[in-house]
Amino acid sequence: MSTDWTTLWASRTRNIRASAIRELLKLTARPEVISFAGGLPATETLPIQAITEACARILSTCPEKALQYGPTEGHLPLREQIAARYIKNCVPVTPDNLVITTGSQQGLDLVGRTLIDHGDLIVTEAPTYVGALQAWRPCSPVFIDLPVDHDGMPVERIDLGLPIQFVYVLPNFQNPSGVSLSLERRHQLVEMAHRHRFIIVEDDPYRALRYSGEDLPALVEIEAQMLGSKWDTHGRVIHLGTLSKVMAPGLRIGWILAPSTAVRMFVLAKQGADLHSSTLTQFIAETLMRDGTMEANYPFLLKVYRERRDTMLEALHEDLSDHASWTHPEGGLFIWLTAPGLHTQQLFTKAVERNVAFVPGTNFFANGGGDETMRLNFSCMPPERIREGIERLGHIIIQAQAEAPVKSS
Ligand SMILES: Cc1ncc(COP(=O)(O)O)c(C=O)c1O
Repeated sequence: MSTDWTTLWASRTRNIRASAIRELLKLTARPEVISFAGGLPATETLPIQAITEACARILSTCPEKALQYGPTEGHLPLREQIAARYIKNCVPVTPDNLVITTGSQQGLDLVGRTLIDHGDLIVTEAPTYVGALQAWRPCSPVFIDLPVDHDGMPVERIDLGLPIQFVYVLPNFQNPSGVSLSLERRHQLVEMAHRHRFIIVEDDPYRALRYSGEDLPALVEIEAQMLGSKWDTHGRVIHLGTLSKVMAPGLRIGWILAPSTAVRMFVLAKQGADLHSSTLTQFIAETLMRDGTMEANYPFLLKVYRERRDTMLEALHEDLSDHASWTHPEGGLFIWLTAPGLHTQQLFTKAVERNVAFVPGTNFFANGGGDETMRLNFSCMPPERIREGIERLGHIIIQAQAEAPVKSS
């Protein structure tokens, strides 16, 4: 008799959903498809040679350490390197405030395991990062989603009468919309968290990828400035970082920065998940941070991505001005397009048949919506392919709008 797994899964497992994006990406893998669907760094920006050399050096000088089990908290010199970058921005971080995670995706998972009970209220942006929804849905929270505007999450609309467990926010060039939280709202959110005693989960993979405008302080920096030496005992911001977008996602190095009491619990939860993140890749990452290779690669990274962002914005302007609107991100990897009258989920199959792909926006909403929206990634394609892809997409959108039933008022 075949095994009926559906009767065996734990109740929390039934809330696990396949990542729609990972499923879509399988359909867009044909080389003739111009895909704006992924969210990957451009392969040509990866510091391949530096990683190869660092790896060879590590394996010839300290293989017995780099290939051995390591502490759950993470490799101390790596935590020191990461801490130094926050200390520069006036956050009084010690290595005890950091746990290295297997990508910041694991940070999200650990936040879910340690902080979410069934029915807890979590405020998110709408749209928001789909990987967070995927990590937290098994814990059965109630998501309260607030539609983002040009200045990110409208924090003034958070219902302070509710017992909020945490607010999840992507302050810089949000995935998927590309918008950033304004400075004023950053201050407002930190003050609200302290006055009304909720936690902020700040997910910040993109800050270094800024192509225009001024760098804005992280929420954890604003909080540290407010609390001074009391930050470690009074802090309420859990900040997630990663090297995936500025070094290499395959290293799977991320971190949680938080008050040390919270970090201790994340460490215990991580012990049960994977004991520790890869020792070898932590050694490699530490080398590239210590010898300056990581930051030396930033100007190249920014040049490549700035050109691609500008190309996509220009192409959209040329091909879709009268038919759609879109965000103008100052950084990150994504543009968010809204095309009135369309159902982008339905349009997806037609687009892939015509060899262009995007992610339908509805995937990024905790409670549904976003039918007329799509996420466009600009980092993975060279400018000429971006132009060609947007032209194809433009034809498809314009044709679909012409065929769409007119809504009666
Ligand atoms: C907002 C956000 N958080 C977390 C992640 C996970 O990144 P990683 O696990 O590679 O660090 C991503 C990846 O795209 C992201 O966009």
